[in-house]
Amino acid sequence: MRALVSKGFTPRRVRELEGEILRLTRRYLLPALDGDGFEVVSDFAGRLPMDVVSDLMGVPESDRDELRRLADLVVHREEGLNDIPPAGMEAALTLAAYYQDLVAERRRRPGDDLTSALVTARDGGDRLTDQEIVAFLFLMVVAGNETTTKLIANALYWGRRNPEQAARPLNDPAWVPAWIEETLRYDTSSQMIVRTVARDTELHGRVVPAGHRMLLLVGSANRDERVFPEPDVYDLERDTSALISFGGGRHYCLGANLARLEARVALTEFVRNVRAYDLDEDNAVRVHSINVRGFAALPISVSPR
Ligand code: HEM
Repeated sequence: MRALVSKGFTPRRVRELEGEILRLTRRYLLPALDGDGFEVVSDFAGRLPMDVVSDLMGVPESDRDELRRLADLVVHREEGLNDIPPAGMEAALTLAAYYQDLVAERRRRPGDDLTSALVTARDGGDRLTDQEIVAFLFLMVVAGNETTTKLIANALYWGRRNPEQAARPLNDPAWVPAWIEETLRYDTSSQMIVRTVARDTELHGRVVPAGHRMLLLVGSANRDERVFPEPDVYDLERDTSALISFGGGRHYCLGANLARLEARVALTEFVRNVRAYDLDEDNAVRVHSINVRGFAALPISVSPR
């Protein structure tokens, strides 16, 4: 299934999104910069990734606000409760039904979007069923939306906590990629991955029996002092090439290039327009999630250039 999906989700298709990502970034960021301050998540970072996913899939612009609202409901959890709230269930069903219609429409009239590419993708005699395509479109929403939002806000947060580091990209946008990579290492939005152990596996002198579940702490591995010297220091100059924020192996994040591109465009546009910024940490709110780390709200004040 991944081989088929990769045929549609190509590096070229991702690269071609850059212009659209810039347009969306400006659409949300520039009006927000007009006032005294804004809220990073709801005004900017929380809007961009879902609109990019919608654009990639070929969702018409007029439907995107509603899809973003549904996608936010799907991942929202109530403080203290582990269950999916009824509104989240309902939103998930509405979203799946929307994608079902989209797939049916593209089967009738294919376009040049990812959904059409998935409909027509072939690997030998193998092709994706409608149900598989809908499940994949849904996976993109869950995997690619909140994670990227959190990455952008986490970069602004750790930049503010380490002003001498943020000064680099603020003075020279060429530092933006290093800002993104160090944020991915230091405080990644996706903190853990779970696996079922396929065969007895010895690790650190203990055998984990086949069939057991194992929690892999990505956030902790990114601070392994054997790999990253002084791991608790946020340092844009360090070598981050060994970070595992996008996983590894056969399930390596399919959207890693896209997430990096979105963050680069968004933060580059930010430093091009902003000379300095401050955060209202007392009114910042973290998300309630066992896995996703980042902010539900992050009020910011900026000094425009
Ligand atoms: C900062 C942003 C992101 C982070 C930190 C992140 C992280 C991850 C991680 C750790 C995995 C591996 C899960 C595992 O091994 O079980 C993964 C898988 C995946 N990601 Fe991302 N991701 C991000 C953005 C995106 C985006 C933008 C998309 C697409 C629009 C996306 C789509 C996917 C998909 C489809 C998979 C499943 C791949 C598979 O199971 O073969 N991700 N991501």
